[in-house]
Amino acid sequence: MAIQKVTLGKTGITVPPIGIGAWSWGDRMFWGYGKAYDETDVRAAFDACMAAGVNFFDTAEVYGLGQSESMIGRFLQTERRPVQIATKYFPFPYRLTQGGVLRALRGSLRRLGVKSVDLYQVHQPFSLMTNRALMGAMAKAIREGLIRGVGVSNYSVERTRQAAGALEALGLPLASNQVSFSLLNKTPVTSGLVSLCRELGVSVIAYSPLAMGILSGRYTPESPPQDFRRGRYPKELLERVQTLLGLMREIGQAHGGRTTVQIALNWVMAKGAIPIPGVKNLQQAQDALGALGWQLTASEVAALDTASDKTQRM
Ligand SMILES: NC(=O)c1ccc[n+]([C@@H]2O[C@H](COP(=O)([O-])OP(=O)(O)OC[C@H]3O[C@@H](n4cnc5c(N)ncnc54)[C@H](OP(=O)(O)O)[C@@H]3O)[C@@H](O)[C@H]2O)c1
Repeated sequence: MAIQKVTLGKTGITVPPIGIGAWSWGDRMFWGYGKAYDETDVRAAFDACMAAGVNFFDTAEVYGLGQSESMIGRFLQTERRPVQIATKYFPFPYRLTQGGVLRALRGSLRRLGVKSVDLYQVHQPFSLMTNRALMGAMAKAIREGLIRGVGVSNYSVERTRQAAGALEALGLPLASNQVSFSLLNKTPVTSGLVSLCRELGVSVIAYSPLAMGILSGRYTPESPPQDFRRGRYPKELLERVQTLLGLMREIGQAHGGRTTVQIALNWVMAKGAIPIPGVKNLQQAQDALGALGWQLTASEVAALDTASDKTQRM
């Protein structure tokens, strides 16, 4: 199946319509790497994605304290096909200069074992550096050939406008804003962020598109997740989400047995965003890949929107 690529903002950089989130790759603190899954599982997921042409991976210097980037770096050593990497700069308060940004970037490139990455994102907006200085460092990284595009993450409407403006003043487009966006979190739509990004020509990258696995349907009020997700998705939310999951299963049946994961990702794409589901093993990778090559109808998207609104409001 040939994958129709999408362009990141106005950068001319094309990527698959789905990327793969690599937060859990090597991360022991949140995801319990090394217990229920290990590098062999992750490698199988990586290989399946590459074989399907989904060669866009999202990581960050802080994921697994560098382990996620290092693991991708190991995979790249034996991978001859092109791989597109998005990683992130974390604006720690002690990072006050443009030199600090470039040092962090070089650390990421070293762990990944590459000379440049396709997308370098500011992980979150709270920085002691001014927007102008931060974007100036990003522009320098582009000029030095270390990155191809500049993105931000967790930026509000106002901050997205400011970041795009600062880059524009340097003659560069803002490629993307990566935000939490799923059938269980429609804030990017209600806040006007999705509209603004459309207006500015900035791509929206949707993180946690499966609501950290809740939209897979594997967690129920009787069997909730046993890790950090327990606090975020309490029992009463797991109860509420069952109606939405029921509709997702029904729609999945109408499409020849699509899973709720595939419905969740297809819905994000219908909203014009690029979902980056986190996958830990072959089965999860194959499930995510099944979101490609078909589309929800407009009336199915509308029905999912209504069910999602009810779930969020209740
Ligand atoms: N920029 C930011 O601030 C930020 C924040 C969060 C995430 N992200 C990025 O977005 C990516 C994805 O977000 P996320 O990992 O938070 O959430 P997600 O993609 O919504 O959910 C991922 C989790 O769902 C479960 N899952 C995945 N596929 C499944 C399947 N087929 N069946 C059953 N369960 C499945 C897995 O956990 P279990 O198997 O343990 O249930 C997996 O770790 C991250 O990897 C990261 O790259 C960015």
